[in-house]
Amino acid sequence: MVKVNLGGCDSFVKDADYKVYVEKALKALDVLESGTGAGNDYIGWRHLPSETPESLIGECEAVRDCWKAKGVDLVVVIGIGGSYLGARCAIEALSHNFAKQLSGKKDAPEVVFAGNNLSEEYLAELMDLVAERNTATIVISKSGTTTEPAVAFRVVKEYIEKTYSDASERIVAITDAKKGALKTLATQEGYKTFVVPDNVGGRYSVLTPVGLLPIVVAGFDVREMLAGAKEMEEVCSVRSEENPAVKYAAMRNLLYTGFGKKIEILVAFNPKLQYLGEWWKQLFGESEGKELKGIYPASVNFTTDLHSMGQFIQEGERILFETVVSVEKSNRDVIIGSDPQNLDQLNYLAGQHVEHCNAMAQLGTKLAHIDGGVPQLEVSIEKLSAYNIGGLFQFFEYSCGISAYVLGINPFNQPGVEAYKKNMFALLEKPGYEEQTKAIKERL
Ligand code: PA5
Repeated sequence: MVKVNLGGCDSFVKDADYKVYVEKALKALDVLESGTGAGNDYIGWRHLPSETPESLIGECEAVRDCWKAKGVDLVVVIGIGGSYLGARCAIEALSHNFAKQLSGKKDAPEVVFAGNNLSEEYLAELMDLVAERNTATIVISKSGTTTEPAVAFRVVKEYIEKTYSDASERIVAITDAKKGALKTLATQEGYKTFVVPDNVGGRYSVLTPVGLLPIVVAGFDVREMLAGAKEMEEVCSVRSEENPAVKYAAMRNLLYTGFGKKIEILVAFNPKLQYLGEWWKQLFGESEGKELKGIYPASVNFTTDLHSMGQFIQEGERILFETVVSVEKSNRDVIIGSDPQNLDQLNYLAGQHVEHCNAMAQLGTKLAHIDGGVPQLEVSIEKLSAYNIGGLFQFFEYSCGISAYVLGINPFNQPGVEAYKKNMFALLEKPGYEEQTKAIKERL
């Protein structure tokens, strides 16, 4: 269960003002739930947790088992934006921090990501790894035409076809049901294919095969993840002032509109949550940053970044608020020992859990940042688990839809993403872009 605590905003906002924004958020929830808002063709993500059939999970497990039988020990997940960030977030949150370095038999293949940049060096080094391992790939593109994954897939596909006699069984495509280059290729080559539903946009697609297949292949329990998301589907769709998505959306909009807090920093105190920040930044940045509006989403990992960004957050320009993703319990125990010399003067902590220090750092930071003029919202889960990661996905997606509607923005399109693509295609002299190529060359 995901909970929201707004106590860290008490000294900044008046209750009456917050209530006004709760009313706005409840109206936005009505719009979302009734499917009457902008972008309403793309609200299919709301019921993915309760409507995902067991047969789909079975299909994902069949891919996992087929690759296991072949001895596959490396799976390259190719995709960009919403086509990889959710899977990466879940896999990193649930994996051992040192899984790669640990010796011993691995139950699941290593999952690596590609097609999320255009660095030649990255791709060359990926192929160094691929050459040493028994490889399969999952290529994910809803449109089927995105340049970054298409380039990476061309390289990986060529290698797999050259190397393995069962190449077509080592490639799985996740794409649109009917259209796009990837769909055409997958049909031609007979790849196993999964569908990204028409009514789910990229950044809301983690609980479709886009996220489910890589997470299953990496060895994690998507049934638990969907169960946690289902609980939040139920909680976040209720028209109530206690709905955590309503509370979060209301407060962030009040801080933005009423207090000029233009930057929201998602804070985690566990390095496994770094990619939760990356996924969340895309979700909110691409959903809300339009029409010259929107809160700029940033992320940090504490206590690490208290030693780099802490100074700015404490004393820099007062345009920030924080949302802390708080994990109440550690899954592992490390107790601080006693040392007879006590040169580091840590004996006062002897017998304590390290997580106790982390919790006190979290509380101390909260008080310091509030004193420094940074309101703090808290989103908490009991522990890092598949169930709670699923819950966070559904909670943040609901919050984002509600929040963007409060702002008067369509949460489900991304017109601004096209601008760089047009310039890139003109500069690369893509056929069909002759006019733009001429214009851009004159400009340069
Ligand atoms: O949220 C979105 O729709 C985008 O970020 C897409 O996920 C991203 O651009 C990748 O698109 P595609 O899956 O079509 O390759």
